[in-house]
Amino acid sequence: MLTNDLHIALRPLLASYDPQQIVVVTGQDVNACRPEIAALGYPVLTMQGGEENKSIVAVQHIWDFLLEHNITRRGLLICFGGGIVTDLGGFAASTYKRGLNYINIPTTLLAMVDASTGGKTGFNYAGLKNCIGSFYVPVETVICPPLLDTLSAEQLLSGYAEMLKTALLDGSELFNALLQYDLDTMPVADLAPLIERCLAVKERIVQSDPHEQGLRKALNLGHTVGHALEELGLQPSAISHQPSENRQSSNRQLLHGYAVLYGLIAELYLSVVRLGMSREPLQQLTQLMLHYYGRPQCKCSDREHLIALMEQDKKNERTAEINCTLIHSIGQPAINQVISRSEMNEALDYLFSL
Ligand SMILES: NC(=O)c1ccc[n+]([C@@H]2O[C@H](COP(=O)([O-])OP(=O)(O)OC[C@H]3O[C@@H](n4cnc5c(N)ncnc54)[C@H](O)[C@@H]3O)[C@@H](O)[C@H]2O)c1
Repeated sequence: MLTNDLHIALRPLLASYDPQQIVVVTGQDVNACRPEIAALGYPVLTMQGGEENKSIVAVQHIWDFLLEHNITRRGLLICFGGGIVTDLGGFAASTYKRGLNYINIPTTLLAMVDASTGGKTGFNYAGLKNCIGSFYVPVETVICPPLLDTLSAEQLLSGYAEMLKTALLDGSELFNALLQYDLDTMPVADLAPLIERCLAVKERIVQSDPHEQGLRKALNLGHTVGHALEELGLQPSAISHQPSENRQSSNRQLLHGYAVLYGLIAELYLSVVRLGMSREPLQQLTQLMLHYYGRPQCKCSDREHLIALMEQDKKNERTAEINCTLIHSIGQPAINQVISRSEMNEALDYLFSL
């Protein structure tokens, strides 16, 4: 549900629950800058941010919080935050007393257009992104674009990358509309219609394949390489980030959407080489990267490690293969593309040479 007034949207959704049976989980930064959370008037659990905290320990905190407040199976968990909060909260809800209702209120662009819908929940484990998880659909996702007013430019860019991915799966019209969006000033008001269109694309794909047996794999475009880049930062031997012109501050973890953008560039390169896709979308994303996102902060020596991580990706149907979604052209995805090590090396060479 898309709304500009959170409280009006929530009222009918919450009316059927005992107010003593409603609790909220949120993130530190969100709680600090969004008064809407306290205004809800329910007990709030504030989680630490960062992929390193998207863990079983965080899930345990949520389970403990639900138990402390005597939440029964008729209760409700409200997940108010970015994709980390909605993924963790959704997983905790899916397992608590064999299933508790939850509502997502995404507060980042990335969570609005992707993480909070479609029912994928989970946490990182053994250095692997979302290695443990479930499919568990929220009873509602309330998308309120004004919540983005306090979001940083780099977080908006992170979400914008997932929107580009969605548009590449849909068609040139949406892709071109996104390219028209003014990334220099990033007006939140202009995002609402684009969010709505991206959500409609994701909903259509998820409805046709809720458990990712086929077409839903298309939504993983950019994510085989993207997740490996993120996982590099989750490993004990995490790369040391070099100072650079990258918009993300150099000593911070790679944001999910940035990893997705780099992944899209590598995987569009493979789409050109293997499927004969036109070079234009690859060039357009490359320009966006150079102007707004900065280059990935990886060394050539990270390549072997990245490929080993891709071989462990949960999307793989056989061990030690690399499975990607590519596109024939904008709007024409090609799922289950098995990529050889040498092809992936070539794609990473392209990405790291930019
Ligand atoms: N389940 C899915 O289908 C799915 C899809 C895509 C991504 N994901 C997951 O989503 C996660 C990334 O989500 P994300 O990009 O939202 O990151 P995030 O949850 O880390 O949030 C980003 C940062 O912004 C802060 N923040 C959130 N809302 C804010 C607001 N309105 N104002 C100011 N600060 C705010 C957060 O506290 C956090 O520090 C990844 O873990 C990824 O794996 C899941």
